[in-house]
Amino acid sequence: MDALARPIIPPAPFVHPDELSTPRLVIETLRNTLGNWSQVAFDEVVGRRVVLGIESLLVSDPDGIRHVMQTNMANYVRPIATVRPLRPLAGAGLLLSEQPEWKRQRRMLAPAFTPGSVESLLPHFQAAAEGLVRRLEGQTRVNLSAAFHDTALDAVLRALFSISALEGRGDLAGLVRDYMAGPGRPTIFDGFAPTEGSFAFVGGARRRFQTRWFAAVDAIIAGRRAASADRDHGDLLDLLLAARDPETGAPLSDAEVRDQCATMLLAGFETTSRVLFWSTYLLSLDAAEQTRLRQEVVACPPDGVTTLADLQHWPRLRQVLLEAMRLYPPVPVLMRQALGPDTVCGVAIGKGCLVWISPWVLHRHNRFWDQPTAFMPGRFAGKPTPWISEPGYMPFGGGPRICIGAGFALAEASIVLATVLAKFEISLDDDRTVMPVGGVTTAPNIEPWFRIERVA
Ligand code: HEM
Repeated sequence: MDALARPIIPPAPFVHPDELSTPRLVIETLRNTLGNWSQVAFDEVVGRRVVLGIESLLVSDPDGIRHVMQTNMANYVRPIATVRPLRPLAGAGLLLSEQPEWKRQRRMLAPAFTPGSVESLLPHFQAAAEGLVRRLEGQTRVNLSAAFHDTALDAVLRALFSISALEGRGDLAGLVRDYMAGPGRPTIFDGFAPTEGSFAFVGGARRRFQTRWFAAVDAIIAGRRAASADRDHGDLLDLLLAARDPETGAPLSDAEVRDQCATMLLAGFETTSRVLFWSTYLLSLDAAEQTRLRQEVVACPPDGVTTLADLQHWPRLRQVLLEAMRLYPPVPVLMRQALGPDTVCGVAIGKGCLVWISPWVLHRHNRFWDQPTAFMPGRFAGKPTPWISEPGYMPFGGGPRICIGAGFALAEASIVLATVLAKFEISLDDDRTVMPVGGVTTAPNIEPWFRIERVA
């Protein structure tokens, strides 16, 4: 895009001019949780509402967010409805743990996500990216949403266990995919469950999945323990087996290692695949931006990357990834439930209140952004870690529970996107409108066809 050209305004659900009535709100929410917002949400920084007897508070004020996610975080937990479908996948790992267990786990896992550790995983990301290019070779019309899904799963399995999702371990990948498309989808029972174990009679498929899933992950870990003499695989499992509690020196038990591995898989693959999809989609709308990125990555080819510092040769590519996560945040909402009454931004809330901190709303908020709906990657120039420096930007969450895998995800996404752009010119080959839909992640409503043409 030259300096005078207008920025692209990519698709997003309609913003309602006035607050919706309760029946309309319910209908719109069932249709798309990103399509139920009214203009006031993008202008004001706090709003309380009671719908069907359920109290909720939308907080976009930076001090209010800090209060909920940090200062008074002991008063807030993830709501049962959001935990239930994830538990069979993630067990008692970091994502779903609560205090005081959470603190111990976070301390033990932190060394596995330092820049030095992420750097040691770069060859796994390169292998996953090269695998994607091989699968795309010879094709002209491709479903990149599915391709990035496979690649992100492949990358995280390689980084965790040094195995590929697509070369011989299809069982593991298929298991996760089938769960997410089947029993892992949230149900009405999740919405009304008073405890995590309620309505056990509808949980059979989830329990069966968990048994098979945990057995599969256990088998990989047992195999690695059996080969303990050969400990240097350069993967996350090595780091988890070596992790020690800083206070007691105790290692993680087998069940804990398994739950952390399962958690990384859950937290790491769909989120990253969405960033790759939305970035590519935006680049297919903005051909000039795509050309600019290709020049950047061709000048410093992805297969030559050996350190995290090498990724700094692609500043514009990083800005595009950050802007894609602003416009289409992979995690569209961070839900918390109040354990007791509280006051947030001067608004009194009761026990049980659902607190919405919505990256979707925040990232398009008029208070924080110039031309919020426009694709303008340059807004992130000179901002290496905007998820920390910018109050209106939180794709990785915030406070002490901020995503532990942010560095991992950005390194992986940079390498995969750079590898694809270095090889192919990508354009949209589909007349249907691509609309973001809210769920656990921000998904496209359809998986559009893209045309790819070899450029190198
Ligand atoms: C672009 C990709 C990613 C995005 C947008 C993302 C986003 C997030 C967000 C928003 C949270 C906070 C959730 C909340 O507070 O309710 C979170 C937590 C977490 N993420 Fe990520 N994530 C990504 C990739 C990854 C990867 C690759 C891993 C691991 C390999 C990972 C592991 C985790 C874990 C373990 C937590 C829980 C942290 C805690 O509670 O202490 N994430 N992520």
